[in-house]
Amino acid sequence: MTTSVRVSTNQISQDYDVLIEPGAIDRIRALLPDAHTYAIITDTNVARLYAEKIRKQLTNAAVLTFEAGEANKNAETWQKLSDGLINHNAGRDTCIIAVGGGVTGDLAGFVAATYMRGVPVVQVPTTLLAMIDASIGGKTGIDIDGGKNLIGAFHQPHAVIIDPDVLRTLPKHELRYGLAEAIKHGAIADAAYLQWIADSMQSIDALESNAIMHLIQRSVEIKAQFVSADVQEAGARAALNFGHTIAHALERVTRYAMPHGEAVACGMVVEILSAEAAGVTEAGSGAKLVHALEGAALPAALPKGTNSSEVMAAMSTDKKARAGAVRYAIPARLGEFSADTEGNWTRPMPDDVVKGVLARLSIK
Ligand SMILES: NC(=O)c1ccc[n+]([C@@H]2O[C@H](COP(=O)([O-])OP(=O)(O)OC[C@H]3O[C@@H](n4cnc5c(N)ncnc54)[C@H](O)[C@@H]3O)[C@@H](O)[C@H]2O)c1
Ligand SMILES: [Zn+2]
Repeated sequence: MTTSVRVSTNQISQDYDVLIEPGAIDRIRALLPDAHTYAIITDTNVARLYAEKIRKQLTNAAVLTFEAGEANKNAETWQKLSDGLINHNAGRDTCIIAVGGGVTGDLAGFVAATYMRGVPVVQVPTTLLAMIDASIGGKTGIDIDGGKNLIGAFHQPHAVIIDPDVLRTLPKHELRYGLAEAIKHGAIADAAYLQWIADSMQSIDALESNAIMHLIQRSVEIKAQFVSADVQEAGARAALNFGHTIAHALERVTRYAMPHGEAVACGMVVEILSAEAAGVTEAGSGAKLVHALEGAALPAALPKGTNSSEVMAAMSTDKKARAGAVRYAIPARLGEFSADTEGNWTRPMPDDVVKGVLARLSIK
């Protein structure tokens, strides 16, 4: 049971394949490009579980480990990993293997983008979120005090290798956070897929192999479709930000106590209900989305005590706000997303409408 999805970069760099194969990590040597040396970059949790399995298949591989957690996706870790490469005599003929979640992928990808002005990286994502989202599209980077992901580079991977079997060790809440992005994929590109997720939640939760293969493959296809259409994020890729304008504000007002996956779930609900109220999105879309999210045990209402004015204020300073007006990426109906007649992929919405929905959802 193997499938692969080709990601086109429209000649901006090499196209690459996303391979989805149960057990891929056990035969990864055969799947990696030839290189003089390899450097496996991974976090402390994933190192314990999978690093040795990979290292022992390779004759010339170092393992560079950093402490797990978003708090370590920073310049200090980037420096330590780069120093680690120097200490292992890594050169331009070294291939970096990023084994882990999105934190590892972003960090290792950024190390690969900058080390000696760029060395190849193979992404081996081990969270659902990294498999269907972070590992595809070439965005790499680190956080600074001024904000998340503010320092970074586009650096397309040489390949993405997904072994769905590793989800067995992933904590269940991490699986749910990935599902928020999968539901988003359905909402922006494929209503039947959204319905399938809602109907298949038991099989997905039990990690039944057919369900997990379909989930990963369809989401990878959708993510690949949007990034290929817009490799450097100037237009269509904005669709992938559905729910994220509100989500980023919720993360900021909760000082990142709210996990991204939950923030995206709430954010999609607030944005789609606001869009319904503003006549932008087909009526009834929000209810279907809420049904899918609740099935995945994701929140469809805001945490108690959320202050809608604070959320509005946090949005107006978001880096995605342009010329003062907060913009949202909203599907016209579930499964359909397109630019408006002027070619804009995002749109403003009246503040009072959004604020009204926020207020309504935070007293539930
Ligand atoms: N580059 C992009 O396009 C992009 C897109 C979306 C998100 N991101 C980034 O991704 C990051 C979030 O990624 P994440 O949610 O994967 O978080 P993460 O990398 O922190 O992983 C979550 C936790 O799961 C552990 N883990 C990973 N795989 C495991 C496995 N198979 N078994 C057991 N434990 C495992 C990790 O050690 C960590 O504790 C954020 O920094 C975000 O900015 C990047
Ligand atoms: Zn997201």
